[in-house]
Amino acid sequence: MAKITEIAPDFFRITTFVEPFNIQFSQFLVRDDQPLLFHTGPRALFQEVKSAVASLIDPQTLRWIGFSHFESDECATVPEWQQLAPQSEVLCSVVSKIVSVDDCLALRPAKGMVDGEVLETGRYRFRFLATPHVPHCWEAGLLFEETQRTLLCSDLFHQDGDVEPMTESDVIGRCRDTLVGYQHGPLANYVPYCSLTEVTLNRLAALQPKRLATMHGSVYVGDGSTALRDLAVMWREVLTT
Ligand SMILES: [Fe+2]
Ligand SMILES: [Fe+2]
Repeated sequence: MAKITEIAPDFFRITTFVEPFNIQFSQFLVRDDQPLLFHTGPRALFQEVKSAVASLIDPQTLRWIGFSHFESDECATVPEWQQLAPQSEVLCSVVSKIVSVDDCLALRPAKGMVDGEVLETGRYRFRFLATPHVPHCWEAGLLFEETQRTLLCSDLFHQDGDVEPMTESDVIGRCRDTLVGYQHGPLANYVPYCSLTEVTLNRLAALQPKRLATMHGSVYVGDGSTALRDLAVMWREVLTT
């Protein structure tokens, strides 16, 4: 069974640690009039994620399936979820909808979001940020829940290990260790450093998030602006030298 942590009211982290790869996979469920799941997790975790979601809501009522970019851990089980939840729609960038999702993933046309567009699910309000190539992939985007100031940040702030669900301690050192490790293994160049990187991270910092809900690692609770600016500095140091 995945481990469930309520990181903010109605905002649940659903996490599985995959020991052979020393990595956590977290999905986030927001319980609202229109429930939203951000990331589905890879195919092997579907039953586990489904059981966790079913302990929080009726899974048939899931309305939105969001994710950042087109990769297995982000969106592999969209078809399974859409079969289970007849009203569910994919929520992704316009690029993602046009280039991949409508053709080879979703069972129904996706809701393609443009930069800055807002989706209200009831009590909560999600702003879509187009973030091409951050953390990676042309179609990348993120969601910022404005009422509680939680940034759903996908692979940003990736930390290896079976770490605690939430932390108020600085996580940049852990993120650096993980990124350096990737640079020396078969998954090198996990994150590109390009002309959009720093400007995008600084733009996210301007949102002043209070929680950084990462897919891999502890949710950071605190000054999200400083953490995002520190991440930009660390990425520049690791990826450009
Ligand atoms: Fe990714
Ligand atoms: Fe990921």
